[in-house]
This record gives sequence, structure tokens and C-alpha cells, in this order.
Amino acid sequence: MSDQNTQAAADSFTLTDNSTGESWQLPARVGTMGNRLVDIKALYGDTGILTYDPGFTSTASCKSSITFINGAEGTLLHRGYSIDELAAKSDFMETCYLLLYGELPTPEQKSSFDADIRNHTLIHEQLARFYSGFMRSAHPMAIMVGVVGALSAFYHDSTDITDIEQRRMAAHRLIAKMPTIGACAFKYSLGMAFPTPRNELSYSENVLQMMFSNPAEDYKLNPVLVKAIDKILILHADHEQNASTSTVRLAGSSGANPYACIASGIASLWGPAHGGANEAVLKMLDEIGSADQIDKYVKKAQDKNDKFRLMGFGHRVYKNYDPRATVMRATCHEVLNVLGINNPQLELAMKLEERALKDAYFIDKKLYPNVDFYSGIILKAMGFPTSMFTVMFAIGRTVGWISHWKEMLVDDEQKIGRPRQLYTGEAKRPYVPIDKRGHTEKKTSWSWLWGGK
Ligand code: CMC
Repeated sequence: MSDQNTQAAADSFTLTDNSTGESWQLPARVGTMGNRLVDIKALYGDTGILTYDPGFTSTASCKSSITFINGAEGTLLHRGYSIDELAAKSDFMETCYLLLYGELPTPEQKSSFDADIRNHTLIHEQLARFYSGFMRSAHPMAIMVGVVGALSAFYHDSTDITDIEQRRMAAHRLIAKMPTIGACAFKYSLGMAFPTPRNELSYSENVLQMMFSNPAEDYKLNPVLVKAIDKILILHADHEQNASTSTVRLAGSSGANPYACIASGIASLWGPAHGGANEAVLKMLDEIGSADQIDKYVKKAQDKNDKFRLMGFGHRVYKNYDPRATVMRATCHEVLNVLGINNPQLELAMKLEERALKDAYFIDKKLYPNVDFYSGIILKAMGFPTSMFTVMFAIGRTVGWISHWKEMLVDDEQKIGRPRQLYTGEAKRPYVPIDKRGHTEKKTSWSWLWGGK
């Protein structure tokens, strides 16, 4: 064996079909950091064998240089910088630049990026009329999915994904307009006038100003709340190949325009197992009600026959404390102190956290509070209704989605996403005429047909 072949064999895995004894060598891959991977790109073509991995728990769907997570250690890095350092020393605009362009900006790059984002904060007047098509009681995430998707009908000059300048324009527009779109959804639900972005304000100041100002009064910005909003946005800016980011990549892999792709990310984020968890945490705390009920609910969360889970606990990747939760916990206390809020829900949350962290079930399964456990409490203290929590998450995450979309478009290994399946249906069978079909009573019940018992 030549040196090169020895090296290739060492950097590989062998897959053996135990039914035939046939073996194939599969190359190993390693990134800058993190796990070794088996490269199965050629597996199907070479062998006709597929892999099975529901929820992609063992599958890397792409290569990426944006974010690194070590779930066992509880580490999160953006472009190599740790999230705690970014939260302490950076600001959201700088973090956006870092995620999108790979490096921390120079002062000139930062002010030019910031100026460009400020220049795109307004939304088209006709887009604003879109809102009146929604019920006032509509969930703001429903409005976000619709309005962000509709951007593709307004900004035709930035939907050609083969044109680099159009891609940049769409990316900057989306980051700039998300707070305005989110604030309009909030104001619409309250029956209030749509807010106007103030371009002399920073991104996070504008978020607060648009959400909470009204035309009848001057709005005084509280620097502690501005800092907290900035931290919330930084902490939510990106999180590797999570459900919504993978959705954006999958939508983008077909060549869909960026506005449609981001709308698909918003839809995916909405679910309670993902971005909707911050809203679900507050609902859960309401349901638990008081500290004397904690034991009952911690037990319910462990009961396999009960659908109840402790919302804000557990994470697909972190099997240690979520590093974002540590920062969020400290911010939570700062905000409550400055607002002078002695929040019974926070006390309940702290007691629940203490109880769950001592419980053998949560210890064994490595279930720790995640970022959403605290973000909801902060947002509530600031005056956001629970339905707006996931909108705030979406505003922060937009830059992450776009950075992944940007990266995917120039990755020559990427193809249209097209997973395969393990087919469990009937084998080929002849068509049965309607008068010859014998149905059992069970099979005519809608509930049975939809998977009920
Ligand atoms: N409460 C009670 N049991 C739980 C919880 C929980 N919150 N989370 C996981 N488990 C159990 C689960 O029942 C399973 O038990 P078993 O091994 O006996 O079947 C085990 O822990 C592993 O859970 P899993 O569902 O296989 O883990 P997953 O990686 O598929 O799910 C998760 C991760 C975040 C969806 C889940 O932990 C969960 O539903 N948590 C509550 C919702 C939540 O807070 N989501 C926000 C995630 S962070 C924000 C973001 O990044 O989007």
C-alpha cells in the first residue's frame, strides 16, 4: 500500500453489509473543530444504500464557517468569537456584520454597514396596507410570515439570486425592515398607528421606540432596556443548523428568492419546540401558578403518558448549560431591578429552575434551562405581550438565516435539498373498484384516519 493509500484508509470508515459480507470504504471528514464525520455523499450512487436519520440527529447537511457549537461543553462561537464575549463587548450591528461577512468590522466598515441598514428601515406604503387584510386578533407571527413573504412582491430589484448586488440589497433590507414589520404587527393588534423608524436611533433603540412609542407622546429611551434588547438580539442572532435555519437553506436550495426563504424560516421558528418556546414558558408558568404546584408539574414532565414538558428546558444540541441562558439570566435580573419589578413569575421561574436542576430525571437526561427560559420573562417585564416574543426572536435571527443563505449560494457542494425516505407503505397492489372495498368501522372515523386511536 502506498503512503497515500495508507493515509486514505486511516481517514476513512468501513461499512460492511453483514448479509453479504460486502464492504465499502467511506471517507472521514473533519472541520476546524468538532466531531469527525463519515462522508456518505457517494454512498447511494456507489452502493444503492440509503441512510436513515429522522430529525437529522447524526447528519451534517452542509459545511459552514459561521457558527460552532459544542453541546457537551456548552460553547457557542460565531466566526470563532464566543457568545459571552460578543454579548459583553459587541453590539448587534457589529454581530450582524460579523455573521454576514466573517470578520469584525473596522470603524469605517461598521459605520457604512450601520448607515446602509438605517437607510432601509421604512416599508413600502402599499405593504403597510397589507396588514388591514389580517384580523386584529391575528397572531403577530402569522402576520410576519405573510408580510415578509410579500416583500418579494415589492422589491423586484433584489430577487435575482444570481446577482451579487441584489443579494446584498435583499440581505440588508431584510435586517433593516424586520423591526418595522414586527412593530407594525404589534401596533396593528392594538389598533394603534403604525410606527415610524427614526434613523438617528441605533437598531435596538429603534426596536424599543417603534414598539412602545405613540404619536401623542415623546418616548424616552431607557439605556438599560436598550442594552437588554441589544443582548437579546445578539443572543438570538444565529444558532448553526437549527430547524428554521435548515428550513431557510432547504427553501433557498431550490433557488427561491430571499424574502420567500426568510418567510419559511419564520414559519418554522413559530413552533413551540423552537422559537415559540419563550411564549410557551410564560404560558407554562401561568399554568403552574404557584410554587406549591412545582412538584406536581415536574412529575408531570417526567410522565411518558403526559404530553406536558417543562418549556424552556432541554436542547437538541446543548447537553450542558446553554451559554446564552447564562447571559440572559444576568440580563433578566438587571432589567427587573431597573424596572423595580418584583415579579412573582420570575420567582416561580427561579424556584422551578432550582427544583428541576436537582431532579434525577433532568440531571440524567442533561436537561438545563435554555435561552428561552429567561428571554420571555425579560420581554414580559418590558411590556411585550407573549405573542410578540417569537417576533423578537425572528428579528434577531434574520441575520443568521441570511448569513446561511448567503453561504449556501456560493457553496459548490450544495445541491437542491432532497432527502430520501424509509418507505413503510403497502407494496404494489391492484386497484380495487369502490363496490368491492370492505371498510371496517374504525377506518371510517376521521380521528382514526388522522392517527388517533
Ligand atoms: N421536559 C421534560 N422532558 C424532556 C424535555 C422537557 N423540556 N426535553 C426533553 N425531555 C426528555 C424527552 O422526553 C426524552 O426522554 P426519553 O429519552 O425518555 O424519551 C429526552 O429528554 C430527550 O429529549 P428529546 O425530545 O429526544 O430531545 P430533542 O433533542 O429531540 O428535543 C427539545 C429538544 C428542545 C425539542 C426538547 O428538549 C423540548 O421540547 N424542550 C422544551 C421546548 C423548548 O424549550 N424549546 C426551546 C429550544 S431552545 C430555543 C432554540 O434554539 O430554538
